[in-house]
Amino acid sequence: IKRIGVLTGGGDAPGLNAVIRAVVKVATREYGLTVIGFEDGFGGLIENRARRLTEKEVVGILPRGGTILGTTNRDNPFHYPVEENGEVVYKDVSGRVMENLAGHGIQGMVIIGGDGSLKIAEELWKRYSLPVIGVPKTIDNDLLATDQTFGFDTAVTTATEALDKLHTTAESHHRVMVLEVMGRYAGWIALHAGVAGGADVILIPEIPFTFEKVCEKVRERRRAGKKFSIVVVAEGAKPVGGELVVKKVVEGSFEPLRLGGIGNVVGDKIEEMTGIETRVTVLGHLQRGGSPTSFDRILATRFGAAAVNFLMEGRYGEMVCLRTPDIGSVPLAEATGAMKRVALGNDLVRAARQMGISFGD
Ligand code: F6P
Repeated sequence: IKRIGVLTGGGDAPGLNAVIRAVVKVATREYGLTVIGFEDGFGGLIENRARRLTEKEVVGILPRGGTILGTTNRDNPFHYPVEENGEVVYKDVSGRVMENLAGHGIQGMVIIGGDGSLKIAEELWKRYSLPVIGVPKTIDNDLLATDQTFGFDTAVTTATEALDKLHTTAESHHRVMVLEVMGRYAGWIALHAGVAGGADVILIPEIPFTFEKVCEKVRERRRAGKKFSIVVVAEGAKPVGGELVVKKVVEGSFEPLRLGGIGNVVGDKIEEMTGIETRVTVLGHLQRGGSPTSFDRILATRFGAAAVNFLMEGRYGEMVCLRTPDIGSVPLAEATGAMKRVALGNDLVRAARQMGISFGD
């Protein structure tokens, strides 16, 4: 291998630039490779939008959020919208991808992304034997094959800082403060930020809650003289027997699920049922922006370096992963489609319960 390509796909996560930087540095310094970066995820690979990445291009990007390559949730080469006779039809344009790669003389790809991007990576490997290595990314931390994804620690830190701030205003006004956080169908961000930020109630998708139990906790605190309460709600949390608040938006082959809204439902109910003034904050994409924490910078750097090393060792069709304390790899086929959710016996859930935190169940 003399030339490799790199792209970032799916939603962004703090630490993407740290991965790109490590890939470029290790590839050029250690192996004398040429690195080509594709723009805006698989869109750049399909439309051949690419640029060479030398060490100069990655100077100063370590602490920067986002991705210098751009990214998108759309653009699947196996299901790509093309116009035919004035109509949009979805086609397999993966042949075009292979031509573009051949045109650049690229013999290996580092694909940094979430479940959707990693599935495409696996398909390119299976169908064309394209040497690929995946790097797992998501703030949600819901990939089964790795102990942790980069971006998660930063998201938790941002949510924890928000909880610290909500505490002071909650205390002054004797209010209930509800914070809705991201995480899609998993409660990792809510659980970790809730514990780190001293929440009184944590609602996660894995543990269906009842409004009565949530209000019981708030009332119990009142009776104990604590006039404020802090409630963290994961965007995918749902009441027992209730519907998940999800809006489905279909774009190409990707079906991004617009979660969110449950925070407001919970806030309204608490105010109605307890009579205590309640305010809701939806943290949203603040959790995805900004500078990665040192933990995420380190994990992203380890992943980026390992991706190049594994590619050079011929470990194709795999994904780098954290198997604490080491970095390892797993076949992409095993890494995708399997979600990691908070187990009911999770020790942090147990500790939180023992500390008096309610999960509303
Ligand atoms: O998967 C990361 C994530 O931020 C989820 O936590 C959230 O549900 C979703 O992406 C938001 O997606 P978008 O940026 O497309 O609105």
